Amino acid sequence: MSLFPTYSKYDVTPVKGEGTYLYDVNGKRYLDFTSGIGVINLGHCHSMITKAIQKQAETLCHTSNLFHIVGQETVARKLCQYSGLDAVFFCNSGAEANEAAFKLARKWGNEARLIEHPKIITFKHSFHGRTLATLTATGQDKVKQGFAPYPEGFITVPFQDIDHIKRITGSQIVAVCIELVQGEGGVHPSDRQFVQDLANWCQEKNILLMVDEIQTGMGRTGELFAYQTYGIQPDIVTLAKGLGNGFPVGAMLATERLKPYFGPGSHGSTFGGNPLAMAVAEAVINEMTQPSFLQEVREKGDQLFQSLKEMCVEIEEVIEVRGLGLMIGIELNRPVGSVIQQLTQKGLLTVAAGEKVIRLLPPLTVTTKQIQDAIEMIQQVLNPSQVAVFT
Ligand SMILES: Cc1ncc(COP(=O)(O)O)c(C=O)c1O
Repeated sequence: MSLFPTYSKYDVTPVKGEGTYLYDVNGKRYLDFTSGIGVINLGHCHSMITKAIQKQAETLCHTSNLFHIVGQETVARKLCQYSGLDAVFFCNSGAEANEAAFKLARKWGNEARLIEHPKIITFKHSFHGRTLATLTATGQDKVKQGFAPYPEGFITVPFQDIDHIKRITGSQIVAVCIELVQGEGGVHPSDRQFVQDLANWCQEKNILLMVDEIQTGMGRTGELFAYQTYGIQPDIVTLAKGLGNGFPVGAMLATERLKPYFGPGSHGSTFGGNPLAMAVAEAVINEMTQPSFLQEVREKGDQLFQSLKEMCVEIEEVIEVRGLGLMIGIELNRPVGSVIQQLTQKGLLTVAAGEKVIRLLPPLTVTTKQIQDAIEMIQQVLNPSQVAVFT
C-alpha cells in the first residue's frame, strides 16, 4: 500500500451509496449511520445534489478567486439570510474554516482592540481540526501528541464552567470558540444556561463568540445551525461537512463589524468557493430549507433518542444516551471498538466518539423504518437476550 497509515480503517470497502445505504465490493448492504462522519446529511447520491454537480460540471468547475463567482454571491446571501450573520468566506474543509475564524478574531483583536497577543478560549474535549492552529485549539491531548511546538494564543478551559472562564478575564482574550454539541469528544450537548451565560459574558466583555458548527451545522441537530436551538446569536460561525454533502466545501460566517478585517490580501484559498462547490452548497441549502425538512429531522431525532433510551434502560453497560436531533451518542462503561465491529458485521455502520461512545449520525433523510432497523441491530449486539422491537 502506498498510503500513509494515518487511519485505522473498518474492514469495509464501499463502492456504491443510495440514501441511507452503502454497498460494499461484495454487494453487502449497510445502513450508514456515520454519514461519512456527519457529511452526507441528505443521504448518498441525493438526486438534486447529483443533478447540481452534473449541470455545473458541464458548465464551469473552477476559475479562482481572481474573478467574480456568481454562485458565491447566491450561497453567501442564503447563508446570511438563514444565520442572521452578514459576511461569508469560503474554503474547503472544517479545519480551514476554523483557521479563517481564528485569523479573523486575531486581526480584529490586533486592530480593533489593540491587543498585541490575542488569546482564544477553547474547551476541554473539543475538536476543531488537524492543522497546527486547530489541533492546538482542540481540547484533546491525543490529537496534539508529537506535534510540538504549538502556536501560541489558545487557552483551553473546562467545558461548561462559566465561573472558571470569568476568573481568567483581564488577559488578552478576543474570542471563545465552542462546539455546542461536542462531537469527536463524546457527543456532549452543552447546557442551555451555560451557553446563554457565556454569550452574555462575551457581549459584556467585547469578546467574540465563535461557534464551530462543522459537525452540528446543516440541519444535524434539528435546526439549520445548533446555536438556533440555544437562543444565542454568535459573532462567527464555521461550517463544512454537511454544507457540501460529500463535496469538499467550508465556510466562515461573521457579523458586519468583522467584515473590514478580512480586506483584500488578508486571507485566501485557491479552491475556496469555486463554481462547482457553490452549485452543490446551493442545492444543499435549498433542500434543507424546504418547509417540513427540519421538523422531520426533529421528529426522527426524538424517535431514535427515545427508542434508544427505552432500550438502554435494561442494559447495565450503558452509562448514558445523549444528543441533539440526529446526533446521538451511547456511552458505555467500556471501550466501544468491538461493539462497533459487531454492528458493522450486522450491517449497521456507526462511529466512535472518544473511547467509550458509539456515535449515531444517520443521514437526515433516514426513514422511520431504517431507524427501527438500526435500533434492532443495536439491541441484538448490546442486549442479545432481549429481542423486542422498539418503535
Ligand atoms: C467540530 C469539528 N470541527 C472541525 C472539524 C475539522 O473538519 P475537517 O476534518 O473538515 O478539517 C471537525 C471534523 O470532524 C469537527 O467535527
